[in-house]
Amino acid sequence: MSHDSAIGIHDLSFATTEFVLPHTALAGHNGTEIGKYHIGIGQRSMSVPAADEDIVTLGAAAAAPIIARHGTDRIRTVVFATESSIDQAKSAGVYVHSLLGLQSACRVVELKQACYGATAALQFAIGLVRRDPGQQVLVVASDVSKYELDSPGEATQGAAAVAMLVSADPALVRIENASGLFTADVMDFWRPNYRDAALVDGQESISAYLQAVEGSWKDYGEQGGRSLDEFAAFCYHQPFTKMAYKAHRHLLNYAGHDTDKDDIERAVGQTVAYNAVIGNSYTASVYLGLAALLDQAEDLTDRPVGFLSYGSGSVAEFFAGTVVPGYRQHLRSEANLEAIARRKPVDYAGYRELHERSLPTDGGDHSTPAQTTGRFRLAGISNHKRLYQAR
Ligand code: CAA
Repeated sequence: MSHDSAIGIHDLSFATTEFVLPHTALAGHNGTEIGKYHIGIGQRSMSVPAADEDIVTLGAAAAAPIIARHGTDRIRTVVFATESSIDQAKSAGVYVHSLLGLQSACRVVELKQACYGATAALQFAIGLVRRDPGQQVLVVASDVSKYELDSPGEATQGAAAVAMLVSADPALVRIENASGLFTADVMDFWRPNYRDAALVDGQESISAYLQAVEGSWKDYGEQGGRSLDEFAAFCYHQPFTKMAYKAHRHLLNYAGHDTDKDDIERAVGQTVAYNAVIGNSYTASVYLGLAALLDQAEDLTDRPVGFLSYGSGSVAEFFAGTVVPGYRQHLRSEANLEAIARRKPVDYAGYRELHERSLPTDGGDHSTPAQTTGRFRLAGISNHKRLYQAR
């Protein structure tokens, strides 16, 4: 199969929350030795949504700079990927479409397969652009990762949204044709409709992820993909950043390569900076890895980058993207650092209060506390309808 594809990621922007909880505060509460968080799972802090933030406000905040730069004329499709959906019927993307003033001649849909959803969205977007290269597709990956208080998963929470504009002749990354696919019916992580927090079998989820690395890499080879040593770096789904290291070591082993520590660091080390301080952002995580890589790497012009997207349950895909000459002029490195730096630290009690909050379900009129300083907020709920504000 030819590696060539002239379609891919034209622009990428992300947003995260108003608040941040450092892992030192969580460790102070539960008595965990901080090395377990900082080194054992590779996490420093987690993004915590304000009472008036949700996947819609995060998604709109991520996408707004893309609209400001490229306009709305060519966007005829919005695909919103999430596994922390707010409605069983209406796509969260329709609220984003409205907040951003996108044209009515547009299809908007929500996609779900745990953390893998944004990669499905990206691949579907490429198919649409191939059919009509004049069109652009806005992909929004937005999630709030929430586990039970005092559970092992608690330290791996986070929240963020990544927006990507998919187009022909992309300015950042061309997505290549070959894709390695893998699906297995496993119960490693799931969230029944009646629950707010996910259920997870931690160790099972790590082995299911590693199985999926093997399966998708095997299929990638069979589909005519590149060999391992051609890649400049690898963006893995990062439920916690240590997982990228585990996954890459596993891949090297499986492919019969040496598992040299420095080689692993070179392959994934520049992809973890944002996820380490944001926490798990589910669908957005692998693309935050890409943002960190593009922002930090010396020069990736014309270099292939490997992507491993994993969604529990489980579906995985291994694919490659080649970095486009001139990409650095289109990065949003300063804004990315600002999105992280602008968060306000909360203490453990403040975090716990936010964690325990949920929107009233009585159908009455309820306003939410004005906490976020971001451009979009969830102002309240009335007659079971979420009310959003842009400013
Ligand atoms: N200093 C340094 N390291 C330490 C340490 C210390 N003081 N104490 C412990 N560690 C190390 C441990 O040795 C271990 O490292 P290895 O995995 O390399 O052996 C690491 O810290 C974690 O320790 P434990 O395994 O004992 O931690 P745990 O039982 O609390 O669970 C977890 C860890 C399973 C990741 C848990 O946080 C969890 O359930 N998270 C949610 C599920 C998840 O993220 N799964 C990942 C795959 S599924 C997926 O990718 C989809 C998704 O997004 C959810």
